[in-house]
Amino acid sequence: MLTDEIKKKLIQAAHLAEQQAYAAYSNYAVGAALLTKEGEIITGCNIENAVFPLTLCAERVAIFKAVSESKMEFQAIAVVTRNGGTPCGSCRQVMREFSKDLPILIANEEEELVLETTLQSLLPYSFGPEDIA
Ligand code: THU
Repeated sequence: MLTDEIKKKLIQAAHLAEQQAYAAYSNYAVGAALLTKEGEIITGCNIENAVFPLTLCAERVAIFKAVSESKMEFQAIAVVTRNGGTPCGSCRQVMREFSKDLPILIANEEEELVLETTLQSLLPYSFGPEDIA
């Protein structure tokens, strides 16, 4: 169960991660915090590159960090930006690999929850691992 206290902690962690963003080209910092099944918080920030397509989004950095530590089941993800932006299509698809319906908390730099949604809502009729089994 995602209590208000856990949501707050997750948003705070994403806000802290946002401050680590390497957004040298867009100047658009993003922070993400994943809550694992075990209750651990794993964070990520966007990391840009002079070869623009090599940029990695904050959400994928957090997910790849978690998976690289064998944590593949998640309870929720929080994303913090200056304007409450939602995860891009690529990140939605990467989330889908590990979760069918992940709760997604979107917050701003005031740590206000501006949108509480789910992966199912952001990526309906999705294609996932079961579809190629
Ligand atoms: N970005 C993210 O980190 N997550 C998203 O879901 C949307 C976009 C980053 C990528 C790039 O560094 C900057 O935001 C502008 O697109």
